[in-house]
Amino acid sequence: MPEYAKRLSTLPEYPLGKYPEKKRQLIARGMDVIDLGAGDADLAPPPVAVERLAAAARNPSMSRYGFGLGLVEYREAIARFMKRRFSLEFDPFSEIVPLIGSKEGISHIALAYAEDGDVTVIPEPGYLAYVGGTRLAHGEPYRYPLRPENGFLVDLDSLPADVLARTKILYLNYPNNPTAAIAPIEYLKSIVKRCRELDILLVYDNAYSELAFDGYKPPSIFEVDGARDVAIEFHSMSKTYNMTGWRCGWAVGSRELVAPLAKVKLFVDTGAFMAVQAASAAALDAHDEFVPGNVAVFKERRDAAVEAFRENGFDCDAPKGTMYLWIPLPEHITSAEFSEFLMEEEGVIVLPGSSFGEGGEGFFRVSFVVSPERLREAAARAGRVLTRLSVGA
Ligand SMILES: Cc1ncc(COP(=O)(O)O)c(C=O)c1O
Repeated sequence: MPEYAKRLSTLPEYPLGKYPEKKRQLIARGMDVIDLGAGDADLAPPPVAVERLAAAARNPSMSRYGFGLGLVEYREAIARFMKRRFSLEFDPFSEIVPLIGSKEGISHIALAYAEDGDVTVIPEPGYLAYVGGTRLAHGEPYRYPLRPENGFLVDLDSLPADVLARTKILYLNYPNNPTAAIAPIEYLKSIVKRCRELDILLVYDNAYSELAFDGYKPPSIFEVDGARDVAIEFHSMSKTYNMTGWRCGWAVGSRELVAPLAKVKLFVDTGAFMAVQAASAAALDAHDEFVPGNVAVFKERRDAAVEAFRENGFDCDAPKGTMYLWIPLPEHITSAEFSEFLMEEEGVIVLPGSSFGEGGEGFFRVSFVVSPERLREAAARAGRVLTRLSVGA
């Protein structure tokens, strides 16, 4: 039997890979499962996007290859969005790269920039596509622990000098998955400055830019002067418009920095289904009618989840962004043990902090992606598990 490439064994387990099957088994056992695992809400996409998809699917020209250009209408809608939302101008044809979901571009970016032995700085806990993309490109991940003590922020100057000298890419994501931390603008200014001095590509993952609460408006990295010299920003249709399964996103940045990503993509894909691009354009243009109401639904869920988990013995802050609570556990309970117990005994799926890398140990992640009532039920079940595991300690 042909042997597979050694690089595959350098990849960690992908936590969300196993949950759909696990969930199926629990339901088959008759359990009332509450799935707070993936950041994948049960809400509907904007009606205009659904209508546009249906209409576009009937147009035969939409079923043809999109190639790198894709649908002009989508590129132009992205440029309009960047202008309306962040007051930033980008050329739709040379400074925007349509993606098949932002994960696709985030995973491929290292192929465009990292060579054998180049270091990529990966915040941990973090989205696993950073480590996956790095490993597949034969780069060397340097894991940087995001902890409450450092405000969940990366300080490049605390890296060993020889590592910093070999660093090619820094991945940053705020509002952050899984910690829900946000980054002060002064921090972003200082990190852009250091990346420029050190010639490091700043991959800024802004998947949650529109999912923020209490008046907080997450910035684009390009609001920082000089960012266009070093940064590529990734955006997603998934979380903002409840379109996770549609697979659509984009990368944006200076022509020189995004062109290598577009080149890699010419050899690995031929663009997202153009009807999906048309629907995404419609969703972007309907942003102001759709997004505030959708965010209000998430806020209600956030508030219900925070209150319910607190009432059931957990310590958690109300996050200003994302759809996650990042909840600490008592020292004697590992995140894997707690999550396994909660799933097997109580049918509640949450993600153990350790599944986002060792730096995530001591926490678990709750996605507030179901109704307030189900969140309260999940918190009560989690509280029972906490009590049982604490008594057993
Ligand atoms: C931080 C972060 N970036 C990117 C993504 C990818 O989103 P998508 O590929 O659906 O655009 C996710 C999804 O969970 C995420 O949490």
